Amino acid sequence: MSEMEVDTAGPGKLVLGEQIVDRINELAAISETKEHLARIFLTPEHRLAADMILTWMRDAGMSAHLDAIGNVCGRYEGDRPGLPCLMLGSHYDTVRDAGKWDGPLGVITAISCVADLNRRGKRLPFAIEVVGFADEEGVRFASTLLGSRAVAGTFDESVLVGGDRDGISMRDALKTFGLDPDHIGAAARARRELLGYIELHIEQGPVLEAKNLPVGVVTAIAGATRMAARLTGMAGHAGTVPMALRRDALVGAAECISTIEEFCRTDENGLVGTVGYIQAMPGATNVIPGQVSFTIDIRAPTDMHRKRAVADIVRRIEAIAKGRKLALQLDVTHENRTVPCAPWLKVQIADAIAAEGFAPLELPSGAGHDGMAMIDIADVGMLFVRCRGGISHHPDEHVELADADAGARVLLRVIENFRAGENV
Ligand code: GLV
Ligand code: MN
Ligand code: MN
Repeated sequence: MSEMEVDTAGPGKLVLGEQIVDRINELAAISETKEHLARIFLTPEHRLAADMILTWMRDAGMSAHLDAIGNVCGRYEGDRPGLPCLMLGSHYDTVRDAGKWDGPLGVITAISCVADLNRRGKRLPFAIEVVGFADEEGVRFASTLLGSRAVAGTFDESVLVGGDRDGISMRDALKTFGLDPDHIGAAARARRELLGYIELHIEQGPVLEAKNLPVGVVTAIAGATRMAARLTGMAGHAGTVPMALRRDALVGAAECISTIEEFCRTDENGLVGTVGYIQAMPGATNVIPGQVSFTIDIRAPTDMHRKRAVADIVRRIEAIAKGRKLALQLDVTHENRTVPCAPWLKVQIADAIAAEGFAPLELPSGAGHDGMAMIDIADVGMLFVRCRGGISHHPDEHVELADADAGARVLLRVIENFRAGENV
């Protein structure tokens, strides 16, 4: 659908939603493999997606460019040039075998809202910027939130030397993508340039569906700790080394994993722990695994609870390694505190939801979002859109057209009625 056909006024029309769903599908077609959606940071598919989003931004009346970390940045001027902006955004990278809505929905919806303003010739007393953040998922390199951290000026340059699983450094991957790793500092924005940061995202959980609501107001984004663990024992012959003499790193890892699961499952206050990646070396049927690497992701509703749990889990893993005579290396690769959404932004989002005829339900986010980094330069607000069955990070992730449209109408209202709060 072209920009000229966008029309939110007609009764029963879902024109914003239709454009959004079309674009979600177009973007989802850009993937490492056809069968399993994967658009990983700084890959050729990531670059193609960036170019597609740049085109949509320009079609929506924005000036648009790629910044030094690969964020796609669009700007729609206010009623005079150079005004501070309301920043909207989300990410365009994905996990492996991903759903198509996690991240892109926020970027695409924000662009459709700007396109609608542009079509009506409407300028506001502030600029609007839309950012498609390059890396939120942290799939390729050990760290995460790389795009939003660059914008917030908190990008840690030491990660540039870190390699992916094929040994390609982030520095080299940036160059291959066409970016200059020595200019990441130039992506940083100052607090005075922003009036606030608002992100629309799928809920990734079941609450809105249970409440029969298409949208909700986020209260806070839960903190997270991610670790990389490596256990080293002794590789050996699967047929000759007696069981009692083995130092099998994979069995040690298995004990660690079930300990993490048990620890989190018996917690009554919302603690969750995940081992989402594991690699055994040398990885052959008839060889005792000598070394195993795995990741750990721990989250809890409060920072204190998460920190205590992490300390406890680390103690248990250390004891398992010691008991099995395995060397342990454990590194924290990512740590984010819980980020509360700004009360004044929550009120404006709730007002827009109510004006669209829905109850403004408040709910927390268990998933991480770019707002965790943006909080360093802006107050953060978030709007959730219902997804089917609460399923996310899975190809069955789904948003109904009517819900995508409802999210867009709410976001458009938030933009048009936006009143700057205490961010400046
Ligand atoms: C991002 O999707 C995260 O919460 O890990
Ligand atoms: Mn995600
Ligand atoms: Mn996401």
